[in-house]
Amino acid sequence: MNLELDRYGLWEGINEVIVTTISSDGKPNAAPIGIIRHEGKLMVRVYNGSQTYTNIMETGLLAANMVYDPVLFVRSALSDVDDDVFEFIRTDNVEDFPVIADCNAWMLFEAEYNRENTVLVAELHPVTGTIRHKEIRPVNRAFNAVIEAVVLATRYKVFKNEKYILQIKSYSNTIYKCGGSTDKNAYDLIFRLL
Ligand SMILES: Cc1cc2nc3c(=O)[nH]c(=O)nc-3n(C[C@H](O)[C@H](O)[C@H](O)COP(=O)(O)O)c2cc1C
Repeated sequence: MNLELDRYGLWEGINEVIVTTISSDGKPNAAPIGIIRHEGKLMVRVYNGSQTYTNIMETGLLAANMVYDPVLFVRSALSDVDDDVFEFIRTDNVEDFPVIADCNAWMLFEAEYNRENTVLVAELHPVTGTIRHKEIRPVNRAFNAVIEAVVLATRYKVFKNEKYILQIKSYSNTIYKCGGSTDKNAYDLIFRLL
């Protein structure tokens, strides 16, 4: 199997993906996480307090799901997703690992991690993956703005500082000017989930 990172869209820099994991008692989880590619290596930095952190510590596994659904980014960042967003894959060594059913591609990794105070830093080693759709996507400023807004929303949830709300609101013009209905719905959902 050709697990060349470029083919999966995992390029140099930080790739914002939906990371799926599973708890030791079999509950799947999804959350946006940045996969960092630097000098040929892949890493994640996951902060303590998230379910993703606990699950990686418990299983040593995560899957990166390449998706362009802004609603899924918002929902998985700020609440739990419905079970029907997942499907379960099997490998020779891993049984029933969750991936996002409607993704463009997924890649399963073993996470070789160190815990540093509040953050888990893991180097990722590819196990297997699948490319499902090669979608053509021009840059859309509204989609990018929703991603920026939801990053700020996750900070607001932790720090409760109103400056983040003002920053989130500053994206509304771009989202309402450049976005399709999915981007606008995703943006509105941020306020409902905060
Ligand atoms: C685009 C984006 C990228 C994110 N990247 C990270 C990251 O690299 N590490 C991290 O710990 N949290 C990151 N977050 C925040 C988590 O997604 C957030 O804390 C989430 O609530 C964790 O969910 P969980 O408890 O289900 O794991 C990111 C959020 C967004 C929107």
